[in-house]
Amino acid sequence: MITDATGDWRARDLAVLWHPCTQMREHHQGDDTLPLVPIERGDGAWLIGRDGRRYLDAVSSWWTNLFGHAEPRIGAAIAAQAGALEQVILAGFSHAPAVELAERLLQVAPREPGRAPLAKVFYADNGSAGVEAALKMAFHWFHNHGEHRRRKFVALENGYHGETLGALAVGDVPLYRRVYAPLLLEALFTPSPDAYLAEPGESAAQRAERAADALRELLEAHAGEICALILEPRVQCAGGMRMHDPLYLRRARELCDAHGVFLIADEIAVGFGRTGTLFACEQAPADNGATGIQPDLMCVSKGLTGGFLPLAAVLATQRIYDGFLDDSRERAFLHSHSYTGNPLACAAALASLSIFDSDDVLARNRATSARMSALAAPFADHRHVADVRQAGMIVAFELTRDGDRRTPFDPAQRVGLRAYRAALERGVVLRPLGDILYWMPPYCVDDAQLSLLAEVTRAVIDEATA
Ligand SMILES: Cc1ncc(COP(=O)(O)O)c(C=O)c1O
Repeated sequence: MITDATGDWRARDLAVLWHPCTQMREHHQGDDTLPLVPIERGDGAWLIGRDGRRYLDAVSSWWTNLFGHAEPRIGAAIAAQAGALEQVILAGFSHAPAVELAERLLQVAPREPGRAPLAKVFYADNGSAGVEAALKMAFHWFHNHGEHRRRKFVALENGYHGETLGALAVGDVPLYRRVYAPLLLEALFTPSPDAYLAEPGESAAQRAERAADALRELLEAHAGEICALILEPRVQCAGGMRMHDPLYLRRARELCDAHGVFLIADEIAVGFGRTGTLFACEQAPADNGATGIQPDLMCVSKGLTGGFLPLAAVLATQRIYDGFLDDSRERAFLHSHSYTGNPLACAAALASLSIFDSDDVLARNRATSARMSALAAPFADHRHVADVRQAGMIVAFELTRDGDRRTPFDPAQRVGLRAYRAALERGVVLRPLGDILYWMPPYCVDDAQLSLLAEVTRAVIDEATA
């Protein structure tokens, strides 16, 4: 039980709090089935508990944190903004941080030669809310153009886009979705290009082509019924850090164009340098000499504010924006959140984007990910590791009984949970996705911290699979 100078913190917490994404009973059991860790402050890659214990935040606090906790430049930007304007309605009013951030985002957004660029920014206040806005925009655009049959969304098997009902409808992780299925709008799921699912002898690129063939068939079978395809470029994060060959992005772009369907890139988890490039869409292989694809709608959140404040943005093309201009208010996008474009969050995001320039973050990340790769490689030989995969600053380890893809552990063994607990005891936050462990540290992580991470990962895999 976690106690400190203020008494039994755990009891106080459990008396009043309902924690996210948690079977609360596991906290109440009292045997630390699922430990509850009170954190007092953060410092770079470390989280520091009320009892003074330090935990290496290997999951960047749900993939939000970019440059480390309590990054002083972002903190200062928020403080300065708080002294001037903390919040103002964004309907009918404007403010500098919202405008400047939109300008900056559009400057750095993925761009494809010959395609009109992303041109407008709509703010929301968390990732799911951003996804909701993008889905509604896609549907409403076709509605405004009299294409009333286009009301379905295509999404990838094993994808994840958030927990609100619209976002959940286009997600395919059963643990989150199944119970709510009767409430959800209709979505069509197409096979994931997930390289882990490749047949023996099949390369990741071949797997991507096969998944693209299935997408083609689906779009053909539902011609004129689909408004958008939504996908997580490069990595299906909540689906177990499953990675695909970026060739799939190129094919998806081509197929969406051929079928007049909008492509929504959900860069909420992978944006802002996580996979090596500022946005994962940039990694699609060359077409006419230019790499990268440009989506019609792009959702960003999480790292957008460097991990300080909730904020999301949906970037849209001019064509989509223009489809809502009319004398009728009903043809407008009347979607709103009270805190849309919150000045504090926008100021944090501007400070975060500045750090990318001033610290040459992407270059540093390349060196860090090379180090992560070297530390992760030996795990491939572990008898319970079926796959070690990496995309930039994300490394994942798939644990199975016999170290192959056919023998997942019995979920009742809770191998991932056991590894999580064992890692916490060793001062590392290694929050698993089922039986998949992953490293997704803040970008400030140093060599010593990475070595600790690798050492603890090996020890807890041994312990959890013993
Ligand atoms: C790809 C992706 N989309 C959307 C979301 C939802 O974001 P939020 O948790 O801020 O609602 C997540 C969250 O993990 C995500 O990984």
